[in-house]
Amino acid sequence: MVCLLSGGLIASLITLPAIQAQKKQWHIAIVPKALTGEYWVRCKKGAEAAAKQFGVRLTFVGPSAETEVDKQIDIIENLLTRGVDAIGISPCDGKALVPVIEKAVSKGVPVVTVDSDAKTNKRLSYIGTNNEKAGELAGQELAKLIGGKGKVLIIQGVPGAENLMQRVKGFKRAVSKFPQIKIVSEQACQSDLTRALEITENALRAHADLAGIFGVNAYGAPGAAQAVKEAGKVGEVKIVGFDAIPTTLRYCAEGVVQAIVEQRPYRMGYLAVRYLKEALEGKKIPRIVDTGVDIITPEQAKKMLLASPK
Ligand code: BGC
Repeated sequence: MVCLLSGGLIASLITLPAIQAQKKQWHIAIVPKALTGEYWVRCKKGAEAAAKQFGVRLTFVGPSAETEVDKQIDIIENLLTRGVDAIGISPCDGKALVPVIEKAVSKGVPVVTVDSDAKTNKRLSYIGTNNEKAGELAGQELAKLIGGKGKVLIIQGVPGAENLMQRVKGFKRAVSKFPQIKIVSEQACQSDLTRALEITENALRAHADLAGIFGVNAYGAPGAAQAVKEAGKVGEVKIVGFDAIPTTLRYCAEGVVQAIVEQRPYRMGYLAVRYLKEALEGKKIPRIVDTGVDIITPEQAKKMLLASPK
């Protein structure tokens, strides 16, 4: 009996590594629009948490600026050469990334888009904000803040990014319900805070009676807020932006920014890894996952800063 037991034990010791070797560890890559900025740091944390929880090998790699479309294409090419199993991507440009996304899919590498979509139905899923709806929400907030009338500036991010174009579309639809609201300028800051500041300075010079500003991505509102503060127009020019990154949250608590549409980038990163793993295991995953938004007011921003005063 003793002999039998130890024999069984030896057998299991011998077979265990073989079983482990058969159980492949998936290698999943998440490619953000850029590696810089608080927004993407939060997405990375979510992806890392899921990788740890589901035992996946994670590569989080992206260009250093959101304008580097070709660099992002090269990154995907490299990942395919390296033999990565699945890819989650936030395309810097919703059209330019289509061929490389389709190439990945044709090689059997499942792709989901995260945060921003691409113009292809080959991707398995889009995981992120419903951007048109979120832009519409921003428009409704700004319209309310400026009493349904006045001149408005739109600070776009990088032209070509699907999520930002959808936000502008939703925003315009909301403000078009107010005949006395006039969009006087729409400019792209190329996801550069200094440019967002300069665009606002110029708009404030050109339109002394500017009533409101819509910051379409994470760089718009903080740049606009700095310019409005320096011009001594806090409260006179209302600002609605996206993403409660620390700078924007502080401006909101101070009352320089009146509302923030807060996305859930941590959730996006987490779900991208989780769903890609499920897809690799042959499970069906949803075509669209709306990760939701929250509207943050100055009151809430104050509370959030008190809760984590960094
Ligand atoms: C957008 C991202 C963008 C980030 C920083 C966010 O609002 O969802 O696509 O990369 O701002 O610009």
